[in-house]
Amino acid sequence: MKANSIRTGIFFLVLATTMILSAACGESTPAAPAAGSSQEMFMNNCAKCHGLKGLGDGPSVGALRTQAGLNLTITASKSDDELYKTISSGKGSDMPPWELVLTKEQRLDILKYIRTLAVK
Ligand code: HEC
Repeated sequence: MKANSIRTGIFFLVLATTMILSAACGESTPAAPAAGSSQEMFMNNCAKCHGLKGLGDGPSVGALRTQAGLNLTITASKSDDELYKTISSGKGSDMPPWELVLTKEQRLDILKYIRTLAVK
């Protein structure tokens, strides 16, 4: 009986530690799961701010200093070059630079994906 509850205790301790560790790692490497389709890359790296459909309504939005420029569905008037530069080098205080996290190809793929989100 006693040994069992100790084992249960250890199990939950390990479980909690694993959960805390993975949460902490997720915090320090915001873009770790970069692989996959352009949609997956967008979901993993961008949607927390830009929203699943690019509307600028992601769950992290409340914590941002600026919420302007988050809506990616109204970028039609901006050139590929301009948006690519923003994705690569970041912008303002809250849009992170992605050139060290995503390859050039991945950034171009995501740009193409963003174009599909645009309001027609
Ligand atoms: C931490 C929040 C955050 C994350 C994560 C994020 N962005 Fe942004 N992004 C912003 C903010 C804020 C702006 C507006 C910056 C400004 O205009 O000052 C922005 C602007 C942009 C713009 C320019 C839009 C325009 O109209 O000029 C593009 C394109 C963009 N982000 C793409 C991405 C992509 C692609 C990813 C994922 C690889 C991403 N963002 C991840 C916060 C974020």
